[in-house]
Amino acid sequence: MRSLLITGASGFLGGHLCRYSQTDWQIWGTYHTQAINLPGVKLLPLDLTDGQSLQTCWDQARPDAVIHTAALSKVGQCQYNPDRSYQINVAGTVQLAKRCAQAEIPLIFTSTDLVFDGDHPPYGERDLPHPINIYGEHKAMAEAAALTHYPAVTICRLPLLMGAAIGTAQCFVQGLLAAIAANTPQTLFTDEIRTPASVTDVVQGLHLVLDQGVSGIWHLGGPEQLSRYDLGLLIAESFDVSKINLKPGLQSSVKLSIPRPKDVSLNSQKAMALGYAPQFPKAALREISQSSRAI
Ligand SMILES: NC(=O)c1ccc[n+]([C@@H]2O[C@H](COP(=O)([O-])OP(=O)(O)OC[C@H]3O[C@@H](n4cnc5c(N)ncnc54)[C@H](OP(=O)(O)O)[C@@H]3O)[C@@H](O)[C@H]2O)c1
Repeated sequence: MRSLLITGASGFLGGHLCRYSQTDWQIWGTYHTQAINLPGVKLLPLDLTDGQSLQTCWDQARPDAVIHTAALSKVGQCQYNPDRSYQINVAGTVQLAKRCAQAEIPLIFTSTDLVFDGDHPPYGERDLPHPINIYGEHKAMAEAAALTHYPAVTICRLPLLMGAAIGTAQCFVQGLLAAIAANTPQTLFTDEIRTPASVTDVVQGLHLVLDQGVSGIWHLGGPEQLSRYDLGLLIAESFDVSKINLKPGLQSSVKLSIPRPKDVSLNSQKAMALGYAPQFPKAALREISQSSRAI
């Protein structure tokens, strides 16, 4: 069986990827601080900032393909620890790209809609990155550096991801539900627009580009543009909880401590033409709500 190395298996996307990917591949998954146990997955510790750690991981997994999801992925963490963000998000990605280039194996690098400034949506693959915070800046730098070191790399820019919590990670949906349960008022912007997608659909999209052997840049956004406020209402409806503490607000009327782009909607027609089929948020959230009840 071919060997697929998934970095960031203890993370939200990596964890979902590990669960889905096992039929055709022997999965090797990596964790950094959260040692995990995933049935059917061979787990390895990895610190992307440590060359020896990457060497050991590589020698054990001997991958035939890599999906790179490990990252310092929180905007705040990157803004307040830019050196660490650079080491993990840029330098770590470069090390992986060099290894995959040398081994001539597929590398899928997961990037973000936050490489864009949010002023000219919707964004297609030909639009040039223009990030406005450190996280977006470092992911854009990682994209460019990965392309330089490995022109055959596949870069998938992802939107806001929604899905069921896994043991070691969750997404904003669980955060909002916890705030609602705690009766904490939430101001959600009506002028901050995203194209959210179900993590399970994005996992399938990542496997689609891997299976098709395509390289270059691919957008894996959801099919509908939604404001943070409308998305919040949809989450409350889907989980049958109160909307009373969800308040509409305007990003443009608030001084944010970290700049956040207003509208980074992704145009994902190119991937959809290849077979990427993300659900509308309402259907995705219904599925997440049902699977969460089943756990
Ligand atoms: N989630 C989203 O909505 C979203 C949206 C757009 C793009 N993305 C992109 O999708 C990818 C996955 O995001 P995510 O939300 O799944 O992130 P996440 O839940 O924060 O997981 C990050 C993963 O990276 C690992 N990691 C952190 N520092 C590391 C280091 N120094 N060396 C090796 N591994 C390290 C973590 O390991 P430990 O937990 O074990 O420390 C964890 O497995 C990222 O590339 C992100 O930029 C995500």
